[in-house]
Parts: sequence; C-alpha cells; structure tokens
Amino acid sequence: MIISVVNHKGGVGKTTTTHNLGKALSLEGKKVLVIDLDPQANLSQASGVETPNASIYKSLCENTELPIVNLDKNLDLIPAEVDLAEAEVRLQADVNGYFRLRTLLKSVLPKYDFILIDCPPSLGILTLNALIASQKAIVVVQAEYLAVKGLQTIFDLITKLQENLNPNIEILGMLLTQLNHTIFRKEIADTVRNIYEGKVFENGIRQNITLAEATSAGQDVFTFDKHCTGAKDYKALALEILGMLK
Ligand SMILES: Nc1ncnc2c1ncn2[C@@H]1O[C@H](COP(=O)(O)OP(=O)(O)OP(=O)(O)O)[C@@H](O)[C@H]1O
Ligand SMILES: [Mg+2]
Repeated sequence: MIISVVNHKGGVGKTTTTHNLGKALSLEGKKVLVIDLDPQANLSQASGVETPNASIYKSLCENTELPIVNLDKNLDLIPAEVDLAEAEVRLQADVNGYFRLRTLLKSVLPKYDFILIDCPPSLGILTLNALIASQKAIVVVQAEYLAVKGLQTIFDLITKLQENLNPNIEILGMLLTQLNHTIFRKEIADTVRNIYEGKVFENGIRQNITLAEATSAGQDVFTFDKHCTGAKDYKALALEILGMLK
C-alpha cells in the first residue's frame, strides 16, 4: 500500500511522521519503504543519509533505477537532494510528468507492505506525483490557530483526483500533531475532530521535544529514546493504522 503524507502548510510534522511512522510499522514486522519527495531533503537528513550517491531526481527525470538505501531491518529509504527542485521544472515539461512516480514504483511495490511518501509543503507537481501513485493519504494537521484553514484545498484536490487521474485514492486519516494540554490546543483539536468527524485518527501526536532531538541526531525516535511520548504516540498510530487496514 502506498500512502502519501501531505499538507501544503509547512512545518506541521509531515517529515517527522513519515520517518517515525515508517519505523514504527517496520518494528511491527512490516516491510516499509519511505520516500523523500521534498527538495529540502529533510527525511534523508533525519535518516542520517546526507550525501546519497543517487537521489530520486534522476529516476523521475531520466527513468534510472530507483536508488534504494537500506536503513534497518524491514526499512528502506529513497533519498532526495536539493536537485529535486529542478525536477519540478523538468516534470512539467513532460507529457507524462504527473505519472512518473507511479510508473517507477510499480516494480518495487510487491516488495513492501507500506510505502510512505514524504511530500513537500506545496501542492505542486511533486505532491501530485505522490498522490497519483498512492492509494491513501495521511493529512497532517498541526493543532494550532488557523490549522483548519487551507485543509479544504487538499480535500478538493483529492476529490478531483478521484474523478479522473486516480480513482483509487482515499484519505486514510487526518493526524493531529503537536498536541498539548493547554485549553487552546485542546479546543483546536476538538474543532478539527468535530468538523471532520470520523476522519481524524484516534491517536494524535503530542508535542515532544525528543522528536526534534532525534531528528537533529539523524535518528528515528525509537532508536533515540524508545520510552519518550513521541515513540509511544507513533507506535499507537501504527497499531491504529494496522487495525484499520485489517
Ligand atoms: N510532535 C512534535 N513535538 C515537537 N516537535 C515536533 C513534533 N513534530 C514535529 N516537530 C518539529 O517541528 C518541526 C517541523 O516538523 P517537520 O519537519 O516534520 O514538518 P514538515 O511538515 O515536514 O515541514 P516541511 O513542510 O518544511 O516539510 C521540526 O523541527 C520537528 O522536529
Ligand atoms: Mg518535511
């Protein structure tokens, strides 16, 4: 199953989620591939892969073999580099530019239970490549003022894709991140749950500085500190998703 991790709003927790949900699923015995589709290459850095010999750019633009890096038992990564920004221009000039990733992933799909794609903070051609290749999307929503604004844009985009380019795509769930105990954040989380009833994962991700520290150390949170709340929350989310897909 291919799942895009999206929100065109920046800094909401897409990369942190792809990285740690991917690891959590691998720890449950699932074969997982995480893909860095963001020219910022944060997922690659967070995985400790700073200067990959090859990145997804060449595969997208020149159809070369996907550069798969093994990270751990059950866990592989396709890294990115800043050159991916250039891919956007080249893909736009290609008649099949929206379908490159879908075509590339066909050959590796049978090897994995889950392929998670970390999207950039935009709804441009890279994110569209991800959504067209995917069966599901996780919409990451930071529990903060104005978080709900702009979400409709993603839902509208997914509806349009369902009509034509990718009838199979569905929202797997909305993930609330950076939750804490202040009344303000609780109210925002409750608002999101009310508006999008039934679409929000039961398990949100609490604010936890250890998640940021693990990223800075180039590690997932389970390797860095498996007892922190970040590790507990991502494990609970992984179990919820496995339950939903049973
Ligand atoms: N639950 C959390 N608690 C504390 N800090 C977090 C949490 N989730 C993410 N962060 C931190 O917030 C920042 C943004 O997170 P992240 O990079 O995952 O967001 P993003 O949506 O991928 O951003 P971009 O849109 O730029 O790609 C990072 O510094 C990350 O370490
Ligand atoms: Mg990111």
